Amino acid sequence: MSPESTGPAAVIVLAAGAGTRMKSRTPKILHAIGGRTMVGHAILAARGINPQRLALVVRHERDRVAAHLQSLDPQAVIVDQDDIPGTGRAVEVALAALDAESAVEGTVVVTYGDVPLLTSELLEDFVTAHQTGSNAVTVLSAVLDDATGYGRILRDADGTVTGIREHKDATEAERAIREVNSGIYAFDAALLRESLTKVTTNNVQGEKYLTDVLELAAAAGGRVAALVTEDRWQVEGANDRVQLSALGAEMNRRTVESWMRSGVSVVDPATTWIDSTVTLDEDVRILPNTQLHGTTTVARDAVVGPDTTLTDVQVGAGATVTRTHGSGSTIGEGAAVGPFTYLRPGTVLGATGKIGAFYETKNVTIGRGSKLSHLGYAGDAEIGEDTNIGCGNITANYDGEKKHRTVIGSGVRTGSNTVFVAPVTMGDGAYSGAGAVIRNDVPAGALALSLAKQRNVEGWVATNRPDTLSADLAANATAATPSSSTHQASTEEGTQS
Ligand code: UD1
Ligand code: MG
Repeated sequence: MSPESTGPAAVIVLAAGAGTRMKSRTPKILHAIGGRTMVGHAILAARGINPQRLALVVRHERDRVAAHLQSLDPQAVIVDQDDIPGTGRAVEVALAALDAESAVEGTVVVTYGDVPLLTSELLEDFVTAHQTGSNAVTVLSAVLDDATGYGRILRDADGTVTGIREHKDATEAERAIREVNSGIYAFDAALLRESLTKVTTNNVQGEKYLTDVLELAAAAGGRVAALVTEDRWQVEGANDRVQLSALGAEMNRRTVESWMRSGVSVVDPATTWIDSTVTLDEDVRILPNTQLHGTTTVARDAVVGPDTTLTDVQVGAGATVTRTHGSGSTIGEGAAVGPFTYLRPGTVLGATGKIGAFYETKNVTIGRGSKLSHLGYAGDAEIGEDTNIGCGNITANYDGEKKHRTVIGSGVRTGSNTVFVAPVTMGDGAYSGAGAVIRNDVPAGALALSLAKQRNVEGWVATNRPDTLSADLAANATAATPSSSTHQASTEEGTQS
């Protein structure tokens, strides 16, 4: 639906239930699949049809749920359900709350906070069917093989809908009906308001059933209809963790398929998990066992995976990210990350740069073309362009109490196992020798050396480790070398490279 077009007068999302079968300290609707809470998906579907008002009914864990809802949708009206139980009561208090601001006229849609696969597209078709049929009530139904637990759609001999019978209140004959109530409805506001005053708690569960409105509407001469959806996943709720994971897998299957249809190659959809909040460009390739979460984006021609998990990571065009665990990071165009790389928040890798095997990075900006190829840690640092950080380099950023910054210029070449004891700065074009411990700033173009000279203690093995393999081999080697004195002279020089 285009933003200018007018949606229904209101959508009411029911989210007051406890969800005891989840066996969780977290309220059911706050459990997440596909990168959003279940109620987050419900709000997105509701907002997608542009309702004039949106009401969310809460009761269980009220403050925690309300805070989450407010953060997702500050415009929505949060309504507290009182102690009278049932879906009918939930809608009654919501309608009263909306009416208190200004009377609701027209179509009121009711959905659930625990039905996460429902789409705006289906909701929109549903509202259109309700309005073009001039119905008093329309219910979204589905035909299931096993209808146990659901309310059943009652129809007369002509097929006209006459009401809904809850499973617990149903006769054997009614229980044989396989067309079920999804719990999603469109009502005429005036009729809904009027009917709810007549709904009682006179049933097996002692609740005010919203479903009773259908029979009341039919009795009052209103048109009551059911729209049957073929896509049962869209009306399925999650009551326990088994259903939650089944819905999560189906949502993922749909997300991955939709990206493939938009031009993304996914080698193994079964092991690829993409949150509904992720964005991918055409010609991205996703290799097996890859999980993309949160606000992650991957630009054209980038290759991600295998065995990679990225959360809130921006991957530039043509970059490769292999066997990497990353979050809160940015990878530049044509850059390379991995294999076996851990990117922590605040890592910004410039275009064509590299963070290679067994590197951990955090809060570091790396300029264009700079490479940290193997075995190290870079944290709280800034590295210029076209710098090569040697194997095994470490920024020692933590003095035991505080974190300090390392600043390394452009065109720098550091020797293997250089340690930067922050705060410290290395100027443009500077070099360091292998094993250098950089405690003081290094001026541009200087070579920093900090090791003591190497000293060889001749014959140490023969004296201290006699009769070992080492001693035997050393004895053989010494016998084969004509002049051991010249050899000694050359190796006593300190070696720095
Ligand atoms: C309800 C329907 C049933 C339908 C089924 C579909 C009624 C009487 N029955 O049954 O016909 O087949 O959904 O899933 O409506 N809620 C509140 N306040 C309450 C009670 C529930 O907000 O007092 C909310 C829950 O959080 C949940 C939804 O309403 O999101 C449905 O509640 P639930 O108790 O699961 O309804 P069912 O008994 O399954
Ligand atoms: Mg119930």
